[in-house]
Amino acid sequence: MSDSETSNVEAHLDWDDGVAAARKWKDQAAVSGRPTNEALIDLAQIRPGMKVLDLASGSGHPALDIARVVGPSGHVTATDLSSKLLAVAEEKANEQGLSNISFQEVDMENNHFQTRHLTL
Ligand SMILES: C[S@@+](CC[C@H](N)C(=O)[O-])C[C@H]1O[C@@H](n2cnc3c(N)ncnc32)[C@H](O)[C@@H]1O
Repeated sequence: MSDSETSNVEAHLDWDDGVAAARKWKDQAAVSGRPTNEALIDLAQIRPGMKVLDLASGSGHPALDIARVVGPSGHVTATDLSSKLLAVAEEKANEQGLSNISFQEVDMENNHFQTRHLTL
């Protein structure tokens, strides 16, 4: 395992500590994070039908708000080092009736993404 991979395993364990808080504060986070997510969506010119990759989504920001914007003809791939935080994001997607989002445990520093399935 390279030094970078070793340090990311340690980071993974640290981020997992935030799972209980992410679940406890999920409603507040959805409200307080919305202005930032909307600004990001605006700057990135995200539109209905786009295929979007969100790196380090954690418990779903901004991936869930993007999924609403791209709509049923689009798709969001939400990724994170922590599968536990992604599980919280998936719970939120289910609660919000979002079916155009998928979740992948990925170390973004040690993976290459296939960009041909994304809107660039
Ligand atoms: C500050 S949180 C941000 C989460 C979310 N995007 C948000 O705005 O609420 C940083 C996230 O980066 C993730 N992360 C850190 N290093 C990573 C890596 N190498 N690959 C993928 N995710 C990583 C952590 O697990 C954590 O969920």
